[in-house]
This record gives sequence, structure tokens and C-alpha cells, in this order.
Amino acid sequence: MSANPFIVQRPIKYSEPFCNRQQEMSRLEMAAERSEAVCILSIRRFGKTSLVNQILGRLEEKGWLTLSVDLAGCFCIDSLVREFEKGLYSLRGRWQRLKEDLKGVARLRPQLTLDPLSSQPSLGFDFSRPAGEIERLKNVLEEIVAFPEKSGTDVHLCLVLDEFQNVRRIDPKGRLEWLFRSVFQERGGKFVPFLLGSERHLLQMMIYEESAAFFKGVTPMGLDVLPEKEVVSFVRDQFLKTLDITIPKARITGIYRIFGGHPYAVNWFWSELWALEERSKETEPLDTWVETAVGIILNQRDYYQALNSRLPIGARKVLLAIAANEPVKKVFSRDFMVKACGMAQGSLQSALKILLEEDEIKKTRDGYIISDPLERLVLAVRDMDEEQLAEFVRARISQA
Ligand SMILES: Nc1ncnc2c1ncn2[C@@H]1O[C@H](COP(=O)(O)OP(=O)(O)OP(=O)(O)O)[C@@H](O)[C@H]1O
Ligand SMILES: [Mg+2]
Repeated sequence: MSANPFIVQRPIKYSEPFCNRQQEMSRLEMAAERSEAVCILSIRRFGKTSLVNQILGRLEEKGWLTLSVDLAGCFCIDSLVREFEKGLYSLRGRWQRLKEDLKGVARLRPQLTLDPLSSQPSLGFDFSRPAGEIERLKNVLEEIVAFPEKSGTDVHLCLVLDEFQNVRRIDPKGRLEWLFRSVFQERGGKFVPFLLGSERHLLQMMIYEESAAFFKGVTPMGLDVLPEKEVVSFVRDQFLKTLDITIPKARITGIYRIFGGHPYAVNWFWSELWALEERSKETEPLDTWVETAVGIILNQRDYYQALNSRLPIGARKVLLAIAANEPVKKVFSRDFMVKACGMAQGSLQSALKILLEEDEIKKTRDGYIISDPLERLVLAVRDMDEEQLAEFVRARISQA
């Protein structure tokens, strides 16, 4: 019995089935080789962490050391310090093991330090602890950044900071970012930082504004939906390989288009279908497909409803109006402002500002659109009952 190849509810690890992103992978690998800091931005659940897991796996195969620090649970400087300290300790452990496998151990020049508890000399890295938390943070970051140089070997290190926008939450004035920037600026050619984040307006403030700490200090890289062609071959291959079932291409395309290529929703659908087909050992009837897709849409309708309930009423109104009319080129036209939103210019302006800041909408060349394709879908079908929803899904699967 094989394991379900469509992984959901957690990031995909290295060597687990992962769809495409070849272009992004080569870009990131190249960036790592030349010590170029990159910031990967996307809306939630587009696969940032999964993508970086693939890169880290590849780098480790080449003998790199890697360290991932998730800042999702860090809400103060002290917790940042603790996360980085934990990371540094684990790095040291892994480096010790790696060192034994490395050739040319004679070239190592680790420092001789005294163990503060036992007063026994031990080989290790200098890691004193100044009292102030900012100093401690700077200290531990410097240790991590200098790790490859200090090891005296040819080892490279890739540091990933996931949910990096939390740094701005911890210090809304943005001073912490300058600390990260100044430490990263001192890096040698064997260290590279990758920053990941999902709240794009926060990250954009940290990167794109001329006064921002990371302005021109990192290369921004956006992640888009998965390409249709690659999803089709990924899904076909996985079903063939694990269940020996051939899924018609047109059906895969139909599902892809319903979910707008949203990586999480698409993978979720196939994960559910795979589990059903694994049990029955045959291609499930269309009704099962429809039921599965409807189940996901209903679930996500509740999810986005809960998420959007924190928006002011005016912003919610404009969101719905954009969903119904996108792309909206002329937002202040009579048709949109008065007829679709029923608002005065000032209220519309502040609603748009909130929606842009919350990453709910984005401005494209053709006009304003909903940022998240899955949210676009649930907004489009928000008034449908289950039966209408099933008809909507069935028509799209059969149409493709
Ligand atoms: N390349 C891919 N191939 C297959 N599935 C993918 C891919 N990328 C993402 N997914 C699906 O999307 C889900 C979310 O991925 P991941 O957690 O990496 O996204 P994220 O952008 O880091 O999310 P968050 O913003 O919540 O941190 C995965 O569990 C998987 O189901
Ligand atoms: Mg993530």
C-alpha cells in the first residue's frame, strides 16, 4: 500500500511528491550559490515553505548546512533570541557530525573554549551572552552568519526565516529589521539568508519602500499559482504510479480551473480523491468528484467568512463588488462606486486602502482583482445552496 502522494495540512518535505516550481528552484539554488539574499512573498498556502524545503534538501545533498527558523510563534525579542539560540545549538550538533564525514578535517580551526559548567576545555564556537536582549539577538545572529567562516571548512550555510513579517509585528517601528540587515550585510560568500512571508503588505513595507531596511538588500521573489500543464502531468503521474489508475487530462484541467490553480485547494482535492480511489481501486464516478469539490468549497467558504469578518463593513462591501465585477478598472466610476458599492468617494477610498493593506485585492494592469483565487471562487458562489453548487462544479468538470 503506498502513501497518499498528495500532501495537505503541512508543508511538503524534501523527496515527497512536489509539483513543478523548477524555475523557482533553479533561481533559488543559483541565489544560494552566490550568497544572494532572497525574500519569497505570496499569499497564504501557495507553497512557500514547501518550495524552500525542496531547496534545503538539495543544498544538504551538496553538503550544505541549513537552518530554518519559523518566526510564526515569535511575539517578542526574547522569543526571537530563544529560537535563534536553539537553531545555533542544533547547527553546532549537526556540524560536529558533518565534520566527522568531511575530508580535510585538518583544515579545521575551531576555537578552544571553557565549558562554563564543568570548566573543562571543549571545542566549539565562541558564544557569550550579553545581558540586553537586542545585544543577545545581534550576538546570536552574528554567530549564525559567521558560522561557515568560523568552522574553518568549506561548509556553506543557508538560513531560512519563515514568516519573516513577524519581525515588523514585534517592532512596528521597523528597527529590528535594521539589525537583521546590518548583520546580514557582514556575511561572507558561504552564508545566504532566505526570508519567507505571507502578509505581503508588511513585507512590502520592509522591502520596497526606499526607507525600508531591506530596500535593495534582498531580491524579492513572488510565488504564483501552479502552472496548469505541470499540475496535469503531476496528478496523472502520481495516480498512475501509486494506483495504476489513469485520470483523464480534461478532468484534471476542469478541477484545476475550478480552484484557479490554488496549490493548496488543488492538492487537497486530489488527496481526497486519491484516498477514495485507493479504497475502491477504480476511477470514481463523476458524482464523487462533484461531492469532493463541493465539500472543499463549503469548508473554504466558512474559512474565508471567518477571516473576513474582521474587516469593516464598508471594506467587505467593496470586496464583494470587486468579486462580482473584476477586473475593476475604473473604481471611481458611477457604475462601480455608486451602483455596485453604493458609496461616496471617501468611504470607497478608505475601503480600498484597507483591502490592499490586507492583501485582499491587488491592482493589475486590467484593474483591481481579488488576490486569492480560492477566495475569488468562494465569493463567486457565496449565494449558492449545495445543489446549485454541485451543478456549478459538475458543469465545469464536464466542460473542460
Ligand atoms: N508545489 C506543490 N506541489 C503540490 N502541492 C503543493 C505545492 N505547493 C504547495 N502545495 C500544497 O499547498 C499546501 C500549503 O503549502 P505550504 O505550507 O508550503 O504553503 P505556505 O505558502 O508556506 O503557507 P503559509 O502561508 O500558510 O505558511 C501544501 O500542504 C500542499 O498541499
Ligand atoms: Mg509557510
